[in-house]
Amino acid sequence: MALFSRNEKSSSEGRVKVDDRLRHIAFILDGNGRWARRRGMPREFGHSEGAQAFKRIVRYCGDIGIKIVTVYAFSTENWSRPKKEVDRIVSLLDEYIDGAERELTENEIRYTFLGDRSVFSPEMAARMTRLEEASAHYEKRLNIALNYGSRAEIVRAAAELAASGEPITEESFASHLYTAGCPDPDLIVRTANERRLSNFLLWQAAYSELYFTPTLWPDMQPEDVDRAVEDFYARERRFGGVTDSN
Ligand code: IPE
Ligand code: IPE
Ligand code: MG
Repeated sequence: MALFSRNEKSSSEGRVKVDDRLRHIAFILDGNGRWARRRGMPREFGHSEGAQAFKRIVRYCGDIGIKIVTVYAFSTENWSRPKKEVDRIVSLLDEYIDGAERELTENEIRYTFLGDRSVFSPEMAARMTRLEEASAHYEKRLNIALNYGSRAEIVRAAAELAASGEPITEESFASHLYTAGCPDPDLIVRTANERRLSNFLLWQAAYSELYFTPTLWPDMQPEDVDRAVEDFYARERRFGGVTDSN
């Protein structure tokens, strides 16, 4: 049985198609710095290229029918990098958000930001909230983890839940995470040959499939996504149970 169908027509719509088994794909984008250093360029240059890859890959995921994409763009730990680099990453993200606001009706994407936005400039934080509100009615989703750390998210959820007096259940807890209302990722892809989660979606990744590729994020192409999707469909997800084949 074909587990996913290839689109025979060569169209800009992409080659693989996904079904409801792969509703949500998350990317830990990594390798921007190495990509630039290998070219003798400053790390900031890698982040600019990484921003292009970000747009390319999000668009492609939408084309092949993935309903939810989450991208880990900046972690709570990334503040420890040199100021020049941090400033460049933040300004690239701000530019991206500005562009997303302008292209809202063209792209038809619902944006959600995961993380504490209060550390950014009031203008940028307001842009983020405006974009979330203006896009809330669209079906396809893009979650951008920005100043995100999973441990901070879990502690925040625990504090909110304790203050609310609600009964403590997995459901009530999850409803206080930044990802409230969003299904867990089916597949998490990390680029640049690192094999760790680096404080990303620790709760939500409980049963996610993990895929690692040596490709550096700025080099990521639709074909790399195809490979990850094919790999995903060749797996058997058991969620702790047993199936006919085991
Ligand atoms: C990913 O690329 C971007 C962020 C974490 C913000 P890196 O900048 O971590 O690239 P490497 O890992 O140093 O190559
Ligand atoms: C993880 O990448 C964070 C993001 C992708 C935003 P890092 O490059 O910061 O992770 P480590 O330091 O290699 O674990
Ligand atoms: Mg890195």
